[in-house]
Amino acid sequence: MLKPLALFALTALFAHAQYNEPYRPQFHFSPKTNWTNDPNGLVYFDGEYHVFYQYNPFGDTWGHMSWGHAVSPDLIHWQELPVALAEENGVMIFTGSIVVDERNTSGFCSDGKACLVAVYTGHTPKSATANTLQTQNLAYSNDRGRTWTKFSANPVLDLKMTDFRDPHVFWSAAGSRWVMAVALPNEHKVLFYGASDLKHWSKLSEFGPAGAVGGQWECPTLAELPVDGSPTRTRFVLKIGLNPGGLQGGSGEQYFVGTFDGTKFTNDNPATTTLWTDYGKDCYCALVFNGLPRTQTPVMLGWMNNWQYAGKVPTQPWRGQMTLPRQVGLKTTPAGLRLVQQPAAILATLRGERFAWSGQNVQELNTALKAKAGTGYELQTSITLGDAQKIEWKLLASDGAWTTVGYDRAKGEIYLDRTRSGNVAFSKDFPGRITAPLTLPAGVLKLRIIVDRSTLEVFAQAGLVAMTDLTYPPAGANNIEFTTEGPAPKRTEVELWPLTSAWRR
Ligand code: FRU
Repeated sequence: MLKPLALFALTALFAHAQYNEPYRPQFHFSPKTNWTNDPNGLVYFDGEYHVFYQYNPFGDTWGHMSWGHAVSPDLIHWQELPVALAEENGVMIFTGSIVVDERNTSGFCSDGKACLVAVYTGHTPKSATANTLQTQNLAYSNDRGRTWTKFSANPVLDLKMTDFRDPHVFWSAAGSRWVMAVALPNEHKVLFYGASDLKHWSKLSEFGPAGAVGGQWECPTLAELPVDGSPTRTRFVLKIGLNPGGLQGGSGEQYFVGTFDGTKFTNDNPATTTLWTDYGKDCYCALVFNGLPRTQTPVMLGWMNNWQYAGKVPTQPWRGQMTLPRQVGLKTTPAGLRLVQQPAAILATLRGERFAWSGQNVQELNTALKAKAGTGYELQTSITLGDAQKIEWKLLASDGAWTTVGYDRAKGEIYLDRTRSGNVAFSKDFPGRITAPLTLPAGVLKLRIIVDRSTLEVFAQAGLVAMTDLTYPPAGANNIEFTTEGPAPKRTEVELWPLTSAWRR
């Protein structure tokens, strides 16, 4: 018989082989096999972080939507568990959320202990006799999310509509009740409902149309976020997905900043103001964790993909993955309060040996960087532009392919270009260059870039601008190069850490 230690080593080896396919992210969650889209039911409970996710247990394209499930002690090392909520009797399990029912308001909890209650959209496809139907439903778990029971009296909310989905439920202290934000996709509205028992919902208010109204509104999330890092000064953010109609084409997400009094969300800005959560093409249906201790900074996580090409991305045997968990807050800026995002602090525990360089001689920097990058790393750079007009980082680079992150001073924009990144041919909507407006009054550009084989997350100016993009470089594209146009920047500071695989424990 194998000794426990040998068994552990074997399991670790096997896990590593399994999570080591070409393009497989090493510290982002992806399912072992098959298709995933939106994260669902993000919740922290009893010392564990749970990610549920839109999942097809039977293939690597969208279909048979069910909730996959993974748990983590720290937001970075994930263990995939069996499917939590499966499609049943022709009803698919669409996006939704999970709350911790501390006081058994639902009557679902046993033994006087808190239980988990999932609120999800049941999707019944069109049949010969009926139109597509989307309703809101409940399921509960009394064993830390391992097994689930669908509520016998489902649905709990039915407007007899084809498009009515993605309930985000949370406890509203101001309203002393459960509140649900749920989308009317075609009307570009978010409806708010209230309930004391998670079962009997009555309408409180509605929000929208406002901001960007292309395509359908999906995946609303309302979160109370700290302002300027203060735990006592907070403001609400209502985040809404659009598909299509995103800023960069296909799916994208916008947010509104305002107040929520337990009944109604009031936008701080005129309805014509549009704010984008992420300027990349590949961050969608992000959700903030429920159940985090009040002292912990809110954490958000999204699906790293775009409906334009999600079904064609060249990965196997899985398709779809999550963004890094991101700490989110609001920051006071001259234009008003803005969302800021940073990778969750836990990421730093994956860091290897630090490389640091500062100076002006770009050639010297590139020589020093040779063989330092690899395909999984964190790059932090602060560039005092001086007279420099354009700077570029070429990442995941080989002779003929690279992905560029750059800054164009004259245009006042940061850009991400994956036109020549490698495998781009699977969709006409994949290659291209995207931009985000960014003016630098002090002339100092600060970038934090996380590279994970086929993923790129760029955070500029301490997270004020986020850009998330997929990229499929050729094998061996592990170089990094810094280039400038016009005079070299006055000073460039670089720190780089290789990030080790979270699957290799
Ligand atoms: C968003 C979405 C949701 C829906 C789910 C279905 O990506 O379209 O609105 O609940 O995906 O998988």
